[in-house]
Amino acid sequence: MTSIVEPMRLRGLALRNRIWIAPMCQYSVDAYDGVPTDWHRVHYGALAAGGTGLLVVEATAIAPDGRITRQDTGIWNDAQVDAWRPIVDFAHAQGAAIGVQLNHAGAKASTYAGFGRDGDARGSVPVDAGGWQTVSASDEQILGLAQPRAASTAELEAIADAFVAAAHRAVAAGFDVVEVHAAHGYLLHQLLSPITNRRDDRFGGDLAGRATLLLDVVRRIRAELPELPIVVRLSATDWTEGGVTPDDAAQVAAWAIGAGADAVDASSGGLVLADIPVGPGYQVHLAERIAAEGVVTSAVGLVETAEQAEAIVASGVAAVRIGRAALRDASTPIRWARELGADVDWVPAQRLRAY
Ligand code: FNR
Repeated sequence: MTSIVEPMRLRGLALRNRIWIAPMCQYSVDAYDGVPTDWHRVHYGALAAGGTGLLVVEATAIAPDGRITRQDTGIWNDAQVDAWRPIVDFAHAQGAAIGVQLNHAGAKASTYAGFGRDGDARGSVPVDAGGWQTVSASDEQILGLAQPRAASTAELEAIADAFVAAAHRAVAAGFDVVEVHAAHGYLLHQLLSPITNRRDDRFGGDLAGRATLLLDVVRRIRAELPELPIVVRLSATDWTEGGVTPDDAAQVAAWAIGAGADAVDASSGGLVLADIPVGPGYQVHLAERIAAEGVVTSAVGLVETAEQAEAIVASGVAAVRIGRAALRDASTPIRWARELGADVDWVPAQRLRAY
């Protein structure tokens, strides 16, 4: 049976294990310019040294108006690429593969981070206070945020261009993987979900129509960057009547693989308030549903112990991702390997005397 400590490949990329770090926004760009900071260098450095096989850095905006907050990282200009490069190089020196999650926040853009330069303000940043008019699939307001404007067909095509340009910049920065963020209520999820997509152009309609922008992005990145592993993150259920279902997600996952993606991560929710049965491994069944389509899938969500992670990978899910466990202990992958009694070489030489 497969174990979390076993290596795997994503396209041509070798990963030393199946314990991946989930993308987590740090909202730590106080200059509001999308350029990663000392915080990112130290934070991602610690995670890379902790033994993970694949570290995917936070939701990183493909365009300024795609930022969730002004404190988000970006990957739309050269200064950002230059600042990502040493983070990527350090991860490689630690034996970790590193990817970047590409995002456009759509109707969830232009919000306050709630700390740092933004102070403790919450909700949407008014336009006259440095915020901007958000765009979405339709003009459906979500989560009490400012009313978005329905993006035109041409605007959505320009957003696809920006995703592809961002993938090129990711490669220029040295990233091994790009992850297309189509989960958690951001723009690509706003398009996928019938709750927020009421369009009548080619980006709306049935499931295939609603998946068009996501699949266009994947297909174009694949065509232009044939070697680059692509992960797609989905919210595999909206946890509410009339939203995305696990079967919809499995279909979209299969289409994404057909369009050139290498793996799909099964997360959930984020578009509407819903009653989510949060508990250990509460999203694993979603990953198993997608894996049943023959898709290389990662499971995420309160995967907190080595034993639990082993059982998930043994069930046919390719990898697990950890979020908060890694925030508490950046060396969780090393700790889990030791708990399983595995003889691994992921401990940095500088730390060997600790073990
Ligand atoms: C997140 N999450 C998240 N997801 C994502 O796709 N992009 C992101 O940038 C973020 N940002 C983020 C920040 C912080 C501080 C947390 C805690 C979470 C969700 C994250 O990737 C993961 O799916 C969840 O945290 C569930 O996994 P854990 O934490 O239960 O292992």
